[in-house]
Amino acid sequence: MKKIVFIGAGSMAEAVIAGIVKQGVIEPQQVYVMNKSDDERLISLQNKYGISIVCKNKEALKTADLVVLATKPKDIHQAMSDIRPLLTTQAAVLSVIAGVSIETIENGLGTRPVARSMPNTSATIGKSATGVAMNNAVDETLRKHVLGLLEAIGLVKEVEEDDLHAVTALSGSGPAYVYYLAEALEEAAIAKGISKDVARSLIIQTLEGAAAMMKETGTEPAELRKNVTSPNGTTEAGLKALEGRLFKEAIGECIDKATARSRELGAQS
Ligand SMILES: NC(=O)c1ccc[n+]([C@@H]2O[C@H](COP(=O)([O-])OP(=O)(O)OC[C@H]3O[C@@H](n4cnc5c(N)ncnc54)[C@H](OP(=O)(O)O)[C@@H]3O)[C@@H](O)[C@H]2O)c1
Repeated sequence: MKKIVFIGAGSMAEAVIAGIVKQGVIEPQQVYVMNKSDDERLISLQNKYGISIVCKNKEALKTADLVVLATKPKDIHQAMSDIRPLLTTQAAVLSVIAGVSIETIENGLGTRPVARSMPNTSATIGKSATGVAMNNAVDETLRKHVLGLLEAIGLVKEVEEDDLHAVTALSGSGPAYVYYLAEALEEAAIAKGISKDVARSLIIQTLEGAAAMMKETGTEPAELRKNVTSPNGTTEAGLKALEGRLFKEAIGECIDKATARSRELGAQS
């Protein structure tokens, strides 16, 4: 992979650029970026990461091996019609745009290798949980390149394209559910007289510790839960309150609704 051109220079493009440059996945000079009009933003990315920029001169697209689509969904049709005449038939595409199908990209840019990913906001600190689906034109070499690029912003799992709706509901929106849980825990702790600072620190460490226990021990979450729950103890009392409020059903409905919304938005794009 000699040349990557980012179409869109926003926060998601920067997350990927930061990851690949910091981890040496590619030399900064091989990374080009363009946007619609914000020249200052391009210069700031160039100064920060040593990458090349493509302003009015879109010639760089003619020799691109990979184009990363990173605009908002509403801008992608315009962006694709702008760049299509400049791309070679070999140029591959990696999209990080939520809800835009591989078919839409093939229609907009012609039949070519396309990978469609769904990262999450933790990409900004290299901790995204990303799902990716690829079309049949992606060969093994390109597949490894794409996975390498996405691994620079966190963990990556390959899925069927249709499953990206559920992935969007789970890990795309997932950080918001965790923040909501953190908010609720913090409010409850403050109501019990714990200071905000102390509550915040304890919550962050509890979330990190629980995630690390699942990851490092490989033990089933249900088993880990049972290990913390002594009969008639405090945890059991707390969990019973959650069961009483149909916690699992609420989470199930949350994923159902978010998946359905992803399908609806996908049908509109
Ligand atoms: N942010 C996240 O955490 C996150 C998570 C998962 C997926 N995503 C996906 O990532 C995509 C980008 O999100 P973002 O937060 O990075 O958006 P953003 O900060 O608004 O950036 C969008 C970029 O697209 C550029 N653009 C618009 N029209 C263009 C065109 N015709 N040609 C070239 N560039 C064009 C904009 O340029 P100007 O500034 O010059 O207008 C801007 O640089 C979205 O589709 C979103 O679904 C984001």
